[in-house]
Amino acid sequence: ARTVTRDADGVVTVGGLDVTRLAEEFGTPAYFLDEADFRARCQEWRGAFGTDADVFYAGKAFLSRAVVRWLYEEGLNLDVCSGGELTTALAAGMPAERIAFHGNNKTPEEIEKAVSVGVGRIVVDSFLEIARVAHIAQGLGKRQPVQIRVTVGVEAHTHEFIATAHEDQKFGIALSDGSAEIEGGPAAEAVRRVLSLDGLELVGIHSHIGSQIFDMAGFEVSARRVVGLLARIRDEHGVELPEIDLGGGLGIAYTSDDDPREPHEIAKALSSIVTRECEAAGLRVPRISVEPGRAIVGPTAFTLYEVGTIKPLEGLRTYVSVDGGMSDNIRTALYDAEYSVALASRTSDAEPMLVRVVGKHCESGDIVVRDAFLPADLAPGDLIAVPATGAYCRSMASNYNHALRPPVVAVRDGAAHTIVRRETEEDLLRLDVG
Ligand code: LLP
Repeated sequence: ARTVTRDADGVVTVGGLDVTRLAEEFGTPAYFLDEADFRARCQEWRGAFGTDADVFYAGKAFLSRAVVRWLYEEGLNLDVCSGGELTTALAAGMPAERIAFHGNNKTPEEIEKAVSVGVGRIVVDSFLEIARVAHIAQGLGKRQPVQIRVTVGVEAHTHEFIATAHEDQKFGIALSDGSAEIEGGPAAEAVRRVLSLDGLELVGIHSHIGSQIFDMAGFEVSARRVVGLLARIRDEHGVELPEIDLGGGLGIAYTSDDDPREPHEIAKALSSIVTRECEAAGLRVPRISVEPGRAIVGPTAFTLYEVGTIKPLEGLRTYVSVDGGMSDNIRTALYDAEYSVALASRTSDAEPMLVRVVGKHCESGDIVVRDAFLPADLAPGDLIAVPATGAYCRSMASNYNHALRPPVVAVRDGAAHTIVRRETEEDLLRLDVG
């Protein structure tokens, strides 16, 4: 369903519209989001997981009201992690029961709002929060469904994962107390606490192990350990929890070296691990849910930039400066993330030259694409496109150097419309009230 291609003149098009026209209408830099691709990915995830599982889109990757409407229409649920994301979700009409609320330090105001509107679940992250949510729910005369976020001692990144018995991080409640026994630690205590509180209904256990993951082995360990906790809960309390959530983190292709798993492979792997482990433990198989953010929205958008200056450094590389940078894509500077880049407004037969695509910000770490090749006849005014910027680019964008954050333009079937508009200088001055 991906609609990005090149027309007969070699100009990149998306949804049937060419980028030169899009740049004229919407300016650069801008994110262009292929709505058909977004919807197709939602359908693919829903289809792969079927009706016995739920897919919660992780709004932190990119959220706007249009996105919420698409998710709603395609049958996905939504994971939010702040009052702002919750407000956006509700403003776009997502039913509260299809929303999960995450975070390691939800404020009392955020909890109160989430409980009052009736979010489907709050994923509790600490003992203090368990008490806080229970107190607020009771005050409102409600019983709030919660999942407990546990840390399973698995840290996964791309092709590797590390399984340990010990956790040193801010999220979740550890399964293990650091000893060899995996299921008898703080998480088992959190379960006791939640079950003892009237304002809370314990519906499941949640685990999220990392991001940009290609290897299913980390999920396998995580699922096994979570099911181990379910068995312990059954033994200790005589209850079988109905849900487990295995989080997000599934990787996408940023460059041609990346080899992501398909949703149906992921669904099959997860459900067979959970089923096998539950059968071995004599447990009913719980309803599984997942929370992909990047894997849904990441590949659906590209950033279009205009080339400004070109600076060849003899024997090294050529620095190509664009009209955006770390304010619209912090990932290269922050994580050493890799991206590719292509000349989008024309084709060229010129020799490839080694370039570094950099932004216009006042620091040398302001790199968009560290190493890439572009044609040697590249010239100011050319448009270049950086693919796979749908996730964690606009959502992590900043106003550094008082940059104006770019718009997100949705393109579908020959029509383009702004879903998040470009900031203006008036927007900047509006906040500056001194
Ligand atoms: N669920 C939970 C509880 C999470 O913490 C996250 C991401 C997700 C789901 C979605 O993960 P995804 O499927 O999008 O990988 N800013 C970083 C990524 C941070 C992810 C934080 N949590 C980046 O740009 O790579």
